[in-house]
Amino acid sequence: MNPDSAVVRCEQHLRDWFTRDKESIMKIIDGLDIGWGGVQRWATSRMPEIAGLHLDFACGYGTFTAQLGWRFPDIHLVGLNIDYSGPHACIKSLLDEAGVVATLVQSDAQYMPFKDETFRSVSCFLGLQDIKIGFGETGVAKSVREAVRVLRYRGVMVLIDEFPFSDFQKILDELPVIEVERAERRIDVRWERGIAERAIALYAEGWVAQHRGHCDRRLYDEKFTEMKYDMEDQLREQGYYVPFGPIRMIIVEKREQTAAVLRQ
Ligand SMILES: C[S@@+](CC[C@H](N)C(=O)[O-])C[C@H]1O[C@@H](n2cnc3c(N)ncnc32)[C@H](O)[C@@H]1O
Repeated sequence: MNPDSAVVRCEQHLRDWFTRDKESIMKIIDGLDIGWGGVQRWATSRMPEIAGLHLDFACGYGTFTAQLGWRFPDIHLVGLNIDYSGPHACIKSLLDEAGVVATLVQSDAQYMPFKDETFRSVSCFLGLQDIKIGFGETGVAKSVREAVRVLRYRGVMVLIDEFPFSDFQKILDELPVIEVERAERRIDVRWERGIAERAIALYAEGWVAQHRGHCDRRLYDEKFTEMKYDMEDQLREQGYYVPFGPIRMIIVEKREQTAAVLRQ
């Protein structure tokens, strides 16, 4: 496992590259994607040492995939995502710039194109929330179930998201896993109004895109208004805006070989 100091240098290099053509506010907003305010580093530092074949599902444009590659040099990474076009098209150049090698697979996480027990470890970083937007709670439960199916006996699965622990628990209770660790972390970000206002407009657009239905103006307005209320509350109460979190991580180990029930 590489130390934080090495990972911080990799993050800084990738952030400079990722935001190289952006103006100052967008450098800050887009720069958050690399490292997510220290949360990715915190998460990988708490993970057990992993090596061999690892699946990072709902990998987006691969910022956590890169983080895994920096932290665990002996890992063989597979990234799975439903989209690799539009804003996701940058994943290949991002991973190249990060110096991380990964095999990329395009698939819906609810139906993973892998045999049972393929991977020694599995992760999902802020992917379940987008699966929930597009495919509902059933989609989240199906995706986690698939992740356990393709995980080897005694392999480790790491789920990181904004869901309350009780939501993770409800899904995991049905599966042949035992909890190894749970932890929670606030992102290390404090934005002033100018940055916050720009960010919520972009995040509301992203939310509508994940909705996968008809791109309707009403959906955007509803999400934007909800985020604006939260932003105003935060600015009034604490004087700054924190765009996400708290982020919760749950680590489980698979305790039975993939049973027929998981394949149903
Ligand atoms: C917020 S991003 C996750 C961030 C990413 N893990 C990273 O480290 O940069 C969520 C991703 O989930 C993907 N996604 C949504 N539904 C999915 C599904 N059913 N199967 C696979 N990927 C999905 C979206 O395309 C989006 O890129």
